[in-house]
Amino acid sequence: MNGQLRGKTAIVTGAASGIGRATAALFAARGAAVLAVDRDEKGLLELRDEVAAAGDELAVLAVDLTSAGAAERVFDHCAEVVGTPDVLANIAGRAGDRPAADTTDEDFEFFLRTNLGTTFALSRRAVIAFGDAGGAIVNTSSTFALTGVAGSAPYSAAKGAVSSLTRQMAAEYGRRGIRVNAVAPGLIETPATRAKIAAGVFDDLVTRSRPLPRVGQPIDVARVVAFLASDEAAFVTGLTIPVDGGWSSTHFRG
Ligand SMILES: NC(=O)c1ccc[n+]([C@@H]2O[C@H](COP(=O)([O-])OP(=O)(O)OC[C@H]3O[C@@H](n4cnc5c(N)ncnc54)[C@H](O)[C@@H]3O)[C@@H](O)[C@H]2O)c1
Repeated sequence: MNGQLRGKTAIVTGAASGIGRATAALFAARGAAVLAVDRDEKGLLELRDEVAAAGDELAVLAVDLTSAGAAERVFDHCAEVVGTPDVLANIAGRAGDRPAADTTDEDFEFFLRTNLGTTFALSRRAVIAFGDAGGAIVNTSSTFALTGVAGSAPYSAAKGAVSSLTRQMAAEYGRRGIRVNAVAPGLIETPATRAKIAAGVFDDLVTRSRPLPRVGQPIDVARVVAFLASDEAAFVTGLTIPVDGGWSSTHFRG
C-alpha cells in the first residue's frame, strides 16, 4: 500500500460521486482514516462497499451541507466516530449553465451557497478542529475560475471566490500550521459531465485545445488532492492547481 496519508484523519465531501468518491477511496487506500460526507446516502453506502471490497474502510455521513448547522454536525461526527481531523477536502459542488443575464437571484444564491458557502463553513470549522496541531485544507475550484467561459456566470463567480478564499485562509492560518490549497479541474468524466461527453459536446475541446488529448478522470484529480493533503506538500500553500491537461496554461491548437 502507498502510505502517503498514513496517520491522517480526513473529511472528504462530495464523496458519493465523481471526484469526491475517487478521492475518498484513494485517501482510504493510502492509509488515511476517512469520514466520507455527501447528501446522497445511497452513493455513500456504495462507496463504503467498494472500499471494503478493496480491503480498506471508511466512515460515512449523509448530510446536506447547505443545511443549518451542517459543518458542526460533520466535525462532531468525525471527532466521535473517526477521530480529530487534520485534513479537510472540500469537493462537494454543482455546476450549471447560466449566462449572467439569465441568472435569477435564486440561481445566484444556490450556486454561491453550494460551491462557496459550504466550503467556507467547513473551512472555518476546520480551523477550530485542527487546533494547535495544524492541518491541510484542499478546496475544489475550477478552470472556470481562471478564465472566462461563456454561459456559467454564477458557478464561475463562486469558484473564483473559492480560489480567493484559498489564498486568504492560507495567509491567515499558515502561522498555525494550516496549509490551504485548491485544485482546479478541467473537464473530468463524472456523472455530472458524462452525458455531454457522450453526446460529443466537448470533442473539440479534448482533441484540439489541450496538449494532453483525453478527458480527465476522477483519479487524475484525486491524486493531486492527496498530494496537497499530504506532508509531501509541506511547503505548498495558497495555490490553485489546474488539473486540466494543459488547457488553462497553454494556447494549444491541435
Ligand atoms: N467534472 C468536472 O468536469 C469538473 C470540472 C471542474 C470542477 N469540478 C468540481 O469538482 C467537484 C466534484 O464534481 P463532480 O464532477 O465529481 O460532480 P458529481 O456531481 O459527480 O459529484 C458531486 C457530489 O457532491 C454532492 N453534493 C452536491 N451538493 C451537496 C450538498 N449541498 N451537500 C452534500 N453533498 C452535496 C453530490 O451529491 C455529489 O455526490 C465539484 O465541486 C465541481 O464543481 C468538476
